[in-house]
Amino acid sequence: MYFGLLIMTHNQVNVQSRTLRKNENSTSFFQGFQKVNLPFKRNQSVIDPTKVTDIQQPARHSYVYDNLTELIGQTPIMSLKLLFPDNNVMAKLENFNPLGSIKDRVALHVIRSGLETGLINSDTVVIESTSGNFGVGLSFVCKFYGLKFIAVVDPKISPTNLQLLKLRGAQIDMVKEPDETGNYLSKRIQRVQELREEIPNSFWPCQYSSPENPRAHYYGAGEEIVHQLNGAPLDYFMTAISTTGTMTGISRRLQENYPYLNVIAVDEEGSCLFGGTPAPRCLNGMGAGHPLPELAVKAYEQKIANQVIRVTAKEAIQGCYDLLEAEGIMVGGSGGAVIAALRKFLPTISPDSRILVLFADRGERYLNSFYDEQWVEAHT
Ligand SMILES: Cc1ncc(COP(=O)(O)O)c(C=O)c1O
Repeated sequence: MYFGLLIMTHNQVNVQSRTLRKNENSTSFFQGFQKVNLPFKRNQSVIDPTKVTDIQQPARHSYVYDNLTELIGQTPIMSLKLLFPDNNVMAKLENFNPLGSIKDRVALHVIRSGLETGLINSDTVVIESTSGNFGVGLSFVCKFYGLKFIAVVDPKISPTNLQLLKLRGAQIDMVKEPDETGNYLSKRIQRVQELREEIPNSFWPCQYSSPENPRAHYYGAGEEIVHQLNGAPLDYFMTAISTTGTMTGISRRLQENYPYLNVIAVDEEGSCLFGGTPAPRCLNGMGAGHPLPELAVKAYEQKIANQVIRVTAKEAIQGCYDLLEAEGIMVGGSGGAVIAALRKFLPTISPDSRILVLFADRGERYLNSFYDEQWVEAHT
């Protein structure tokens, strides 16, 4: 397979990919086209059909798993050679987690460590303020361990996520009124605290401040990456940020093996993390407003990131389409933001540098937003 791919890298042609940029002749974002260089002809397979061994892949997993918790983690790393043929970019595909995101790892880790330390017993009610991936992960893990889970959400939650939480057995507690700044986060936290007073045997994972959040990534994806790279060089690690748990945990572990590793944080314009100026945002799962997550304040003080690259929602959504077009991977807005950040970052570094990026979640959950023409036109 590699041999076939190498031959075809000499056969560079231009193909057209969908772009979100409006052009003069088009009325819709989706009618414009932007040229993307792919290292093979679009209709030409990179697999040599005469070689059966190219198509028959050995089984990646050699035993039968007991349950879905065992399938959390062990996500693949894949080279992004089709989208970035002139650079060494690899991606840790956290979208391969069974519930759809890297937060599956945090959910499993916080509940397991709570059970191990005795903070959680069979009657404990787990309460968390969440409108996205962490809630979906927690709803599965709590159900698996027979624990009741209350998700404190607000009216901005996407209908898809609300449905996913309900289907996975979470009890929904909807906060209705925003605070004086028009945001709901402080009201959601207040509601969690009220519920905790009402329910004495309750547990709040609190991803914004718990050290278990970065720890889940240090021992999870961080450890895995070290083994997967197997001593191969690495110069940069790039990931989108919100609580900063992913960036902090993974980069701490990687820097034990790669002491000169540079860490690049990707954030949305309008997020207040790392000195950003507040403005409306729309990329789910990334960025933060005031008050800043406690973990993010620490990450800033400890200078975990060497550089922050901010992108607009429009750039990030274009990134989602570019990745889908070139590599066939469908990620959420934060993955698209990473692609947009790479477009700004790659021209500033040596082409020999080796970069690992992380895609935090899968894109199917955003079919009605980032991948929907009308939604994109109305929101970007
Ligand atoms: C889609 C997505 N991307 C990026 C992040 C950022 O991860 P962290 O909170 O660890 O900084 C999250 C966190 O929820 C997320 O859901």
